[in-house]
Amino acid sequence: MRGSRLLGLGHFQPERIVTNDDIAAMVETNDEWIRSRTGIRERRIIGESDSVLSMAVAAARMAMDDAGVARVDLVVLASTTSEHRSPNAAGRVVAELGLDGAAAVDINTACSGFEYALGIAEQAVRTGSADTALVIGAEALSAFTDWTDRSTCVLTADGAGAVVVGVSDEPRISPVVWGTVPGLTEAVRIDGAPQLFSQDGRKIMRWALTGAAPIAERILDTAGVNAREIDVFALHQANLRIIEPLTDALGASAQQIVIRDIEESGNTSAASVPLGLSKAWHRGELPRGGTVLLFGFGGGFAYAGQVAEL
Ligand code: ACO
Repeated sequence: MRGSRLLGLGHFQPERIVTNDDIAAMVETNDEWIRSRTGIRERRIIGESDSVLSMAVAAARMAMDDAGVARVDLVVLASTTSEHRSPNAAGRVVAELGLDGAAAVDINTACSGFEYALGIAEQAVRTGSADTALVIGAEALSAFTDWTDRSTCVLTADGAGAVVVGVSDEPRISPVVWGTVPGLTEAVRIDGAPQLFSQDGRKIMRWALTGAAPIAERILDTAGVNAREIDVFALHQANLRIIEPLTDALGASAQQIVIRDIEESGNTSAASVPLGLSKAWHRGELPRGGTVLLFGFGGGFAYAGQVAEL
């Protein structure tokens, strides 16, 4: 039965590291507060030479090299911070990488964007609309950050992650589980003039501690696996105080790997899951053939996830 599988992973982070002490020089905060409330030690922020597009292209190149493919039929790019409305960022990636003729679509579902994008690519490859697809999450949240607001500027960061999806003789990526959470539509926003990131942090935290685990269980059920069969938990890197209770609620054991890239990358929204996963993959920390739970949630309030084989 035709299915889809991950063929390669890639990522990009800007060179500039911004530590918690650097943030404390800008607003009234300190390293201890940021670490204990979020887990973040440092984050990467773009300079003049980087953009959502340049980061997406760099991550895509690395994923295509890793996969050993020179062209793809479809590019699905998730971002809430793209520089342009039209042409879309996926179309510009097609042009920059010389993927002439490939279909190109952008997804705007904030922190769950990568999992939505992977869900679309998985269906396209499984059903024969594409043989290969590039799935990218790329964000420059720093451009939409109020650097005088200590409750948000400690969280947001920039980066990109990407995967290549190809045909498999049996499904090795499960069907996506996706939806929105009623009552939280306005809980995370980029709006106003100038357009700036804002959130109701306590409301999100309350939902995350009760509402996220049942959705993760639905993702596992749809994939036909239980949490004990998962090798790697790649959950949206919103806050270590969300990731740890969530993996505890799922019954994760010390033998299972929990991606904790938020500590060195901050919250990169749609990029966070593929970024953390690709970094660990290329450091050789993840088992080839292992199963990974991918789960994103955030602005909208949208969520999506699936289980994939590495
Ligand atoms: N440094 C020091 N003090 C701070 C800071 C800071 N950076 N930010 C807020 N405070 C203060 C507040 O002013 C407040 O002080 P007060 O009691 O005198 O009024 C106090 O700390 C507590 O503020 P809270 O907002 O209640 O802090 P909380 O413990 O809830 O932590 C946080 C805030 C980290 C945002 C938390 O609510 C959280 O993580 N929520 C989840 C939201 C999230 O992860 N968002 C990510 C983006 S959306 C997404 O990706 C899903």
